[in-house]
Amino acid sequence: MNSACPQPLAQSIAQEAFWCEVSQRAIWSNVEILRHRVGSQVILGIVVKSDAYGHGLVECAREFVAAGADWLIVNFAYEAVKLRQAGVTAPIYICGNVSAAQVATIASYPDIRMALYDADVARAAAAAARAAGRVIPVHILIETGTHRQGLTIEEALELAATVSQLDGIVLEGISTHYADIEDTTDHRFAHQQLELLNQAERAFRQAGYDLAIVQSANSAATILWNQTHASMVRVGIAAYGLWPSKETYAKVLQTFAERGEGFLPNLQPVLSWRARVVQVKSVPAGGYVGYGRTFRATQPMQIAVLPLGYHEGYDRRLSNLGYVLINGLRAPVCGRICMNMMMVDVTPIPNVQVGTVATLMGSDGDERISAEQLANWMGTINYEVVARIHPSVPRYLVADAPLSPAAAADLRSGRTTAALA
Ligand SMILES: Cc1ncc(COP(=O)(O)O)c(C=O)c1O
Repeated sequence: MNSACPQPLAQSIAQEAFWCEVSQRAIWSNVEILRHRVGSQVILGIVVKSDAYGHGLVECAREFVAAGADWLIVNFAYEAVKLRQAGVTAPIYICGNVSAAQVATIASYPDIRMALYDADVARAAAAAARAAGRVIPVHILIETGTHRQGLTIEEALELAATVSQLDGIVLEGISTHYADIEDTTDHRFAHQQLELLNQAERAFRQAGYDLAIVQSANSAATILWNQTHASMVRVGIAAYGLWPSKETYAKVLQTFAERGEGFLPNLQPVLSWRARVVQVKSVPAGGYVGYGRTFRATQPMQIAVLPLGYHEGYDRRLSNLGYVLINGLRAPVCGRICMNMMMVDVTPIPNVQVGTVATLMGSDGDERISAEQLANWMGTINYEVVARIHPSVPRYLVADAPLSPAAAADLRSGRTTAALA
């Protein structure tokens, strides 16, 4: 499942020096939870842009669809093409920028719709679709406060009028994106954004446009407010079993405390990241480890070398700060993370040898390193931690044991007020 390497050098995890495990069970659990949350009438769109948030585009897309997702959402045209060329047939929505030069490419594949905010792109898309004998559905983006993509209601109505005069494209929906819904527990700004989208919807309907889809909900909105679900949600990070933020989690707890209701999904992290020890060496007291000699042993130590570094996505800011798990114990990073290597202290850990598995993210025994822990160390967010694992790290879909019916029911239900008390 190594998407970057045309001819994988290894056929199985047993032969890999480093790899990511993508849990099939976690994907299915998360989709089940999300479906339970939005119901059967809402289109469950799963965001698989950026190599499925670093989890592996094609394999994850297939798995999300098999688990019950309705649509796949990508940012770029090339991602949509990659999915179609891999035989993925689910409806695709391109939520990012599609340039006039790229529309012909997407017109050559079925069931790909795109975000739209530019009349020239609309005309180019219509011409490309006519030439390909297809119709491209478009979603006009409404500016509600993020100032990233999108048009005022008046501009959007003008673009809709242009679209309605063009053969080859059809207005399918309108959409917006929240600026800070996951950054705060104060959702007044997000409420204003939703209200603006609702105003836009009313204006479109008054002008006679039949909108099949109105969409705004990312993971935080999907978890927090069912009034954002409308006809479709665009869930990214939660589908990978990660919370959008501490604030989102806190808001759910706050809502339970204040109103005795809410939705606390039992999300299952999908990705684990592991590597094999390639060398174990003794460092004498006073010896240095790594570039810059930033680490100096105060006593005789055993150091294990792992064959990956910041090029592979293990951030250099973890130098002398992070730890990995080996044989269920913590092995602190010693010295600077190199481009393709890193060293960890295994002095107190028994049975470490060449080939022993180290966990960079995920569980080993009773210990776990989360994407959030790595993000805290790195001064970033869990999104970046997973999305930046380099494509050269092979991703393996791991068919872990299916859920028992009781566990599945428990996952679906979220937690109740009583369970929280
Ligand atoms: C337009 C759009 N919608 C939805 C999402 C998904 O957001 P999240 O991962 O927070 O669910 C993204 C992610 O960046 C996005 O850019």
